[in-house]
Amino acid sequence: MSGINVNGDRTKVAVLVSGGGTNLQALIDKVADGQLADVELVKVISSRPDAYALERAAKAGIATAVAKEQSDVLAELKASGAEIVVLAGYMRVLSPEIIENYRNRIINIHPSLIPKYCGKGFYGLRVHKAVIEGGEKESGATVHYVDEGVDTGSIILQEKVPVLEGDTPETLAARVLETEHEILAKGLEKAIDDLKKGDR
Ligand code: GRF
Repeated sequence: MSGINVNGDRTKVAVLVSGGGTNLQALIDKVADGQLADVELVKVISSRPDAYALERAAKAGIATAVAKEQSDVLAELKASGAEIVVLAGYMRVLSPEIIENYRNRIINIHPSLIPKYCGKGFYGLRVHKAVIEGGEKESGATVHYVDEGVDTGSIILQEKVPVLEGDTPETLAARVLETEHEILAKGLEKAIDDLKKGDR
C-alpha cells in the first residue's frame, strides 16, 4: 500500500473484540514493528468486560471500551474517529445502523474458506469440528467486508491451511489462527488501499 495517507495522517482503525484477542495482538505487533506503519489503532471495543483482548489493548496504550448495546458500540466508534473497523473475534452481529454508518469500512476475519463453513452457528471450534467431520483436506482463513448478513460480505483475502491426519478441532484451530494473524493485517492494508483509491 502507499506510504502516505491521503490527508497525511495514519488511518484510524478501531477493533471490535469479544475474547482472547490474538488477532488484535497481531495488529498491535505489526503496527509496532512498522509492517502496518500507516495504521493508528484508536480504540478497542469489547462486547464482554472480561475479554483478555482489553488487557492487550491497555498494555499497548490503546483506549478501550466495553459496549454491550449496539447503540453504545456506534457511539464509541464515532467518538474514536475510526475510519475503518476491524472485527477480530467479535461474537455479535452488528446492527444495520452501524453497517450503514461504516459501509465498506468494516472487515472481519473468519477461520474457514468462505463460502464453506460460515454463517450462523459457525464460530469458534464448531467451524473446525465441522471441517474435520466434513473430511476436508484443506481449510483456511478469510478476511471479508461486513454487510448485513453473517459472513456474506465480499472477500478481500483468503489463505488455505492443510487439514492434517489426526487433527482435532483444537490443533486445526491453532494452525488456522497463525494464518489469520497474517492475512488480517494484509486484508486491513487492502481495505485501506481500497478506501484511499475510492474503489469501494
Ligand atoms: C478467531 O478464530 C477468529 O477468526 C474468530 O474468533 C477467533 C478469535 O481469536 N472469529 P482471537 O480472540 O483473535 O484470539
